[in-house]
Amino acid sequence: MIKSYQHITGELNTLLNEKNLKKIKSRISFLKKELTDLQDKKNNSEYLSRDLDQIYEAHTIERAKYYIKRLVRSFSEIKTGKHNDLNLNRWKEYNDIITDSIWILDKRDKSGAHNGGYWGNFIPQIPNQFLRRYTKKGEWVLDPFLGSGTTLIECKRLGRNGIGVELLPKISVLAEKNISKEENPFNVKTEVINADSTKLDFKSELKKINIKTVQFLIMHPPYWDIIKFSENKDDLSNAKNLKEFLSRFGEIVDRTYPLLDKGRYFAVVIGDKYSAGEWIPLGFYTMQEVLKRGYKLKSTIVKNFEETKGKRSQKELWRYRALAGGFYIFKHEYIFLFQKV
Ligand SMILES: C[S@@+](CC[C@H](N)C(=O)[O-])C[C@H]1O[C@@H](n2cnc3c(N)ncnc32)[C@H](O)[C@@H]1O
Repeated sequence: MIKSYQHITGELNTLLNEKNLKKIKSRISFLKKELTDLQDKKNNSEYLSRDLDQIYEAHTIERAKYYIKRLVRSFSEIKTGKHNDLNLNRWKEYNDIITDSIWILDKRDKSGAHNGGYWGNFIPQIPNQFLRRYTKKGEWVLDPFLGSGTTLIECKRLGRNGIGVELLPKISVLAEKNISKEENPFNVKTEVINADSTKLDFKSELKKINIKTVQFLIMHPPYWDIIKFSENKDDLSNAKNLKEFLSRFGEIVDRTYPLLDKGRYFAVVIGDKYSAGEWIPLGFYTMQEVLKRGYKLKSTIVKNFEETKGKRSQKELWRYRALAGGFYIFKHEYIFLFQKV
């Protein structure tokens, strides 16, 4: 019975000494039947099964052994990406990693400590996708708008260390609570700092935990005043006008810039705003703030936008308003991905 990749590798290596193509094929078809028992079959068995088919369909023993050797190599030689732990020799198996610029994410991941309770939180799949593609296990992630702690919950799950900053004391406590509910299988550190990210001395905060830099930055700021998070004047959702919102966001980009290692990535999740009959492209304005500060744009991702509960009940009304007012209803938000050059 197939128990693991080591087991398959052992079986395949034995076949390399076999001189009879028929015998190789019969062993391969046996391995295929057993494949369903492989534990992580959800992600891997489809591709492994195709690799085994290729061996089975070979017309010559030389070709069959060529495919066997290639398959063995893909298990034994790990070729990881520069900034992640993905094994590029088995790249076809990462079928849940998105590489397109349109993200349609229908169901929120509510497993483990994740819960959709905080109004204005992001779907956990966002940090999940980025942490797996742009960080390695044991590296450090910084989120200056932590909210309910989604990023740090993902850090715990994926074995990355994380620092999150949240302005509101109540929400920092909520984040701590949420994060503590998640198991910590990789024994990573997660730090929640209750502070204003526009004023925080990030460098000395990092010093306190004996690190100088982080390897990934993620920011999910308020979409200006679309959701008022508090009455606190330091809250970006209380910026008096667009200029003030952008300059305070820019201040945080400035403060965090020196902390990110060169060549590493930075994601900003933000939506646009509609006000007094005009579409305000908040997303593109914030993107410009980041570009001004020396980052390179790597991707603009358009993600479907979940309707808030309030909006859902007013769906008909919004449709009427859109038809009458000559505008389109928001169904998307942006994720801008930058690289520090
Ligand atoms: C869009 S929410 C982030 C939600 C988060 N991604 C999550 O999944 O829960 C933005 C957060 O930024 C916080 N915030 C606003 N101004 C801030 C500031 N100056 N410094 C730190 N946090 C701030 C708000 O209190 C709010 O919790």
